[in-house]
Amino acid sequence: MRQDNLTIKTALWTVDPARPDPRVMARAGRIIRGGGLVAFPTETVYGLGANALDGAAVRRIFAAKGRPADNPLIVHIGAIRDLAGVTAETGPVADKLMRRFWPGPLTLVLPKHPGIPAGVTAGLDTVGVRMPAHPVALHLVRAAGVPIAAPSANASGRPSPTRAEHVWADLAGRVEVILDGGPATVGLESTVLDLSGPRPVVLRPGGVTVEALEAVLQTEIPVSGEGGEIPRSPGMKYTHYAPRATLLLIDGPSGAVRREIGRRARDLRRAGRRVAVLARKESAGDYAGLDTILCGSRGDPATVAAGLYAALRDCDAAGADVILAEGVESRGVGRAVMNRLRKAAKEVIEVKHPV
Ligand code: TXA
Ligand code: MG
Repeated sequence: MRQDNLTIKTALWTVDPARPDPRVMARAGRIIRGGGLVAFPTETVYGLGANALDGAAVRRIFAAKGRPADNPLIVHIGAIRDLAGVTAETGPVADKLMRRFWPGPLTLVLPKHPGIPAGVTAGLDTVGVRMPAHPVALHLVRAAGVPIAAPSANASGRPSPTRAEHVWADLAGRVEVILDGGPATVGLESTVLDLSGPRPVVLRPGGVTVEALEAVLQTEIPVSGEGGEIPRSPGMKYTHYAPRATLLLIDGPSGAVRREIGRRARDLRRAGRRVAVLARKESAGDYAGLDTILCGSRGDPATVAAGLYAALRDCDAAGADVILAEGVESRGVGRAVMNRLRKAAKEVIEVKHPV
């Protein structure tokens, strides 16, 4: 639970996402070094940052979010050489992936350096580390002069924030500063790849596609949770990305999905429920008379990813009790979109072509 008796004054500082003002970034960096909390944009989602070497500052992250203490944080670095103080060892696979995908939306789970407090890694002997591609995030880490531990800057259980106003809605009064650098471009979190075991395993699909990782490593990479086995990422046992409304995910061929959503919407409305449809822009005209929140276009999963979390928050703001969401093709970034929708969903309904 979040403690509501610890309200502090939160400053909102607007920064140019491409060329942030060095004086503003220097101030934000000093706040991090001094044990404060700074929320900042990354290319994936907004992060809630604290000095990763300061156990007390890291505990404040968990309190501000209401995050369970057994869910480890990702450590953000500003240069490859900063890895020396974060991980105990890397290896040729990690080196290859860093060269290809950093800075960018890929988190590598590697053996932890003893200097990283146990609170960051929830007591594990591994640490998740990434170098973000966003100029504001990179500048912040470099200005702070320390690695920054940062989960997504949402209240625990809420959709991740892709805009500063989402962070404000969830964390005002709980952090010193929110840096507003405009909307996050990827819109979904980084891919978490565990390199600490005998073979690489994707713990969370995200901004770097599984196909791209497989192409670089020339091997098939299993995705934890997709094979029906017990998930290994500590974060995966919690309900995630959940809007306040009940979400039903309808997946299958687009015509059959539209018919199923139309039918269910009528039944639900007859039962007095407030329904919102979460649809691709091509379906805009297909749900006449229903509250329709549009998110991305068919055949372009990156546009769905970019708008998904804001759309879930919009469904809540529209006062929906039930969200009927169209599925997307589980390929490329679409795989990460479906991973988040499945986790947010109370039920997944698979529809087929009529025979
Ligand atoms: O894109 C992102 O990754 C964003 C931005 C801010 O960088 N951060 C983010 O953090 O999504 P968070 O805390 O919301 O998600 C971190 C995920 C969790 O599922 C956590 O369990 C997993 O990474 N994780 C972190 N360290 C781990 C470790 N040592 N072993 C296994 N999983 C780990
Ligand atoms: Mg998160």
